[in-house]
Amino acid sequence: MNAATLLLFGATGDLAKRKIYPALFNLHLDRKLPAGFSIFGMGRSAWNDTEFRRRVAQSISDFSRRPAADEAELNAFLERFRFCRLNVAAPEDFARLLEQVRASEQELGLAENRMFYLSVAPELFEPIVRHIHESGLSRVSGWKRLLIEKPFGRDLASARALNALLGSVFREEEIFRIDHYLGKRMVQNLQKLEYTNPMLQAVWKNQYIANVQITASETVGVEERAAYYDEAGAIRDMVQNHLLQVLAMFAMQLPRRGTAADMADKKRALLASMRPLLKEEAERSIVRGQYAAGAMGGEPVPAYRDEPGIEEGSSNDTYIAARIMIDDYFWQGVPFYLRTGKRMAKKATRIVVEFKDPLDKYSRTNELTAPNLLIIDIGPHEGISFQLNVKDGQHRFISDPVRLHYAADQSGVPEAYENLIEGAIQGDAAFFARWDEVELSWQWIQPVLEAFAENRVPLRFYEAGSDGPEAAQRLLEEDGFHWWALTGPEADPSRDADEYRTEREAVYEAAR
Ligand code: BG6
Repeated sequence: MNAATLLLFGATGDLAKRKIYPALFNLHLDRKLPAGFSIFGMGRSAWNDTEFRRRVAQSISDFSRRPAADEAELNAFLERFRFCRLNVAAPEDFARLLEQVRASEQELGLAENRMFYLSVAPELFEPIVRHIHESGLSRVSGWKRLLIEKPFGRDLASARALNALLGSVFREEEIFRIDHYLGKRMVQNLQKLEYTNPMLQAVWKNQYIANVQITASETVGVEERAAYYDEAGAIRDMVQNHLLQVLAMFAMQLPRRGTAADMADKKRALLASMRPLLKEEAERSIVRGQYAAGAMGGEPVPAYRDEPGIEEGSSNDTYIAARIMIDDYFWQGVPFYLRTGKRMAKKATRIVVEFKDPLDKYSRTNELTAPNLLIIDIGPHEGISFQLNVKDGQHRFISDPVRLHYAADQSGVPEAYENLIEGAIQGDAAFFARWDEVELSWQWIQPVLEAFAENRVPLRFYEAGSDGPEAAQRLLEEDGFHWWALTGPEADPSRDADEYRTEREAVYEAAR
């Protein structure tokens, strides 16, 4: 394995504490970090190495999926860490950092392979990248890579400007744009599912699929991120990146060789086929919501507008539902519905594929026949379920939907950030977002942002702890569909088939 130095900007931040250190520790335990792999953490705090290591150890004890059971192992891990206090506006701090990195590379006999990781507020991207370049940190005899956290711009123009800046120092193959949804096992699994199951591959197209529903619903509110979130909203925070990437991973044509470049090419083709929205018509395809006061788990919670740090009367979106049409040969006519919201009744990231009713073919549509569903649970529970129909024992025309459920064993499974950092260390960009994908997703989002800014899409309020605004239901009803519920008995794919049958019988009795 390639020995390397990781230079982490934002080492005192929340993401580092919750995700990055625990991920590095688990990679260390799995012997997936090269023996010579040292980590420089940069931040404004006046920490020394000892203090830094103490904090890293604390983050592992608080957030690692596996505990640090063996003290010697933990110490060996902590020894990789050094702290360098740094003011991003001070060139002399970067010069000092370069000296320290060089000294460490020499001391440990490491090649000049440097991985720069920007886990900082977006306004710091520019000065950091500029100083990385000007200080000589990026002039290496080995390889260099840049890992960059979101947000990648706040609209099409700023994303392009950011990319131009990165491109002045790093080549595209050296840039790893993080979208942590791409690190999730079940998202990575989408391609496998289709590729290795001819049964699914055969029906992965508009001939058989009626619609696809992609949901990322959260119970948390804005938390301590008011300053960022009130500017970003759900449209930038979740839709532009995570949901469009999940859509692309689901709907792209299979890459022939499965290389990173191949995959990115297929994703680009898919994203380029999204039917553009006109801002004048955005209201027809987009629902924009914001949570009002409500209750979570029986406890009252405030409205978004009353959360600390949120601007009074803010019209920011905490909920988005969207209909996206894909104009390519395979998906023509199949609506893809996306929705995401904060303060919803349930935390669930799920794809539901609703199949067409085969009885349609004989114009014998039987209202009592439930459609076939393929349900892919991405998180927090991972699993796959099928809803099929079997003949009911008593009634001649009725069929019973039954659920076949696979609950993935999640113990011992790497977290998204482990997969991502491991990929970056290996130089494998398969599960990162290439620039053309990011640009295409912003291109699709841009008219929506404009429509919001011009108040063309009404802001709908929904009660905290609910399933989101009513208008989101109407979006599907117009097309003759409904959202497959995330709460209630029907939402649970692992539910006992008997229970399901009883419910269907009640439907049948009522219809008689
Ligand atoms: C982040 C968003 O990218 O994803 C957060 O900034 C959101 O607002 C989070 O809560 C959701 O991620 P996950 O993995 O919990 O679904």
